[in-house]
Order: sequence, then structure tokens, then C-alpha cells
Amino acid sequence: MASTGTRAVGIDIGGTGIKGGVVDLDAGELVSDRVKVPTPEGAEPDDVLGAVRQVLDTLGAAESDYPLGVAFPAIVKNGRTLSAANVSDTWIDFPAEQFFEKGLGRDIHFANDADVAGLAEVRYGAAKGVKGLVLLTTLGTGIGSALIYRGELVPNTELGHLQRAKHGKDAEAYAAYSAMERDELSWKEWAERLQWYYSHLEFLFSPDLFVIGGGVSKHADKFLPLLDLKTPVVPAVHRNNAGIIGAASLSRGAAPAHLAATTAAS
Ligand code: BGC
Repeated sequence: MASTGTRAVGIDIGGTGIKGGVVDLDAGELVSDRVKVPTPEGAEPDDVLGAVRQVLDTLGAAESDYPLGVAFPAIVKNGRTLSAANVSDTWIDFPAEQFFEKGLGRDIHFANDADVAGLAEVRYGAAKGVKGLVLLTTLGTGIGSALIYRGELVPNTELGHLQRAKHGKDAEAYAAYSAMERDELSWKEWAERLQWYYSHLEFLFSPDLFVIGGGVSKHADKFLPLLDLKTPVVPAVHRNNAGIIGAASLSRGAAPAHLAATTAAS
């Protein structure tokens, strides 16, 4: 294999699947197969750790010297997970970074899944060089968000949990891709829900660009043209791999101050 300095492993833990890959940090691309296992039922810490080990083993990266970045679907502050929307409540105020480091026997970099997808798109994708305010949202089991101003990430924005006054629930319960599947919506019906969500975000933030990530972004042509927004809206260049690439890229300096502090505190 080539010099380890340009490569890192990224693991993206989601509510439905745990994905991983080896990433070339200069190109911002996967240089291995993308390995995916289902998120264990209930998503308890020990089971998630076991699944992460399985992904690393399959990648042949369990013993490698490559830096390892792990992304998680919760608020991540100073190495602790502070929320749990689509995983077990055990993760609330849990020393997750330390837990993974102990369980895997190596140092890791650790951050929120949507934030790292945002980093990937700023460093290697749709938001690269974009001046002003970029709002990346991932549409999956939940809705994740990354707010990036002039290339700098504002971490843990959690905009999937905006309340929708009409039904008094989180936006993600209404407009995530899982809501489309659950309610068996057509693209048009789902796009009506997205229209509400993105109009609301547009009103609140006046962004310069929306980037849409998550697995469904590979079908962007089915729903993005149905949205009527003032803000340009594009799919994430790295689609559902943005989380893996962004997690891997945490090891490469210039991480936002908050994330750097998180790593140093571990
Ligand atoms: C979580 C976020 C996460 C998003 C996408 C939400 O339910 O609260 O932390 O980024 O899902 O996984």
C-alpha cells in the first residue's frame, strides 16, 4: 500500500447502517470497497462497537496504522455523545470517543455524522470554495445538518429537530427519507414535505447554497427539480460516502476548533 500519510479510515455510524472505507485524503476519495453492515437492533454501545469492529475487519483495516475517524448520529461535544434520536438512549451523555478508543485499542477522531459530511463537501465536494453560508442536510433515517460559513463549520446544529408547528413533531419525523418510506410517499408527495422544510430553513438562515446528502441524494433528479427555492440546491458530490470521507478527513488538521479540541481532550 502507498504511504500511510495520505490515507485514513472513515466509519460512518447511522441509524440504519454502519459504513466504512479507506480514503485517500489528497483526492478525497474511497480507495477501498465501501463496507456496510446493518446498525444492530436497539443500537446499544457494545453492539455498535462490535459492528464497527466487523467493518474494520472486513476492510482489513483493524490493525492498520491509518488514522481512524468515526462519525456518529448525535450531538458530539468534547468526545461525549449528548443526544440519541435514532440510537439507544444509553448514548445520552456518554463518553463515546473514549468508549470506542478503549474498545478498538486505538486513538480515533470523533464527530457528528452530518458535520463530517459537511467537512467532506467543503474539502472535496459541492461546497468547496463556496463563499458565504452553506447548509448541508443529510436525508436518511433522520435529518442531519452542517452549517458552514466561509469554509468554517459551526458544529452540532441539529436542524433536523426543528419543530413543525402543524403536527408538533421534529422536522425529521415528517421529512426525512425514512418518513417517505414509512408513509409510502411518491417523490411528489415527499417533495411537498421537503418544500416546507427547505423554505423554513431558507427563511431562518438565508443560505447561499443548500447541499443535499444521504443515500437518497443519488436520486436527486427525482425530487430536487420539484422544489421551488430562491437558494441554489445541489446534491452532495460524494453522495452517501460523504460521511465516510469526512470522518477520515478529521485526521487531517484544519478541523474546526471545536472538533480539534474534542480530539485533544480524549
Ligand atoms: C441526529 C443528528 C444526526 C442526524 C442524521 C438526527 O436524528 O439528532 O445528530 O446528524 O440524525 O443522522
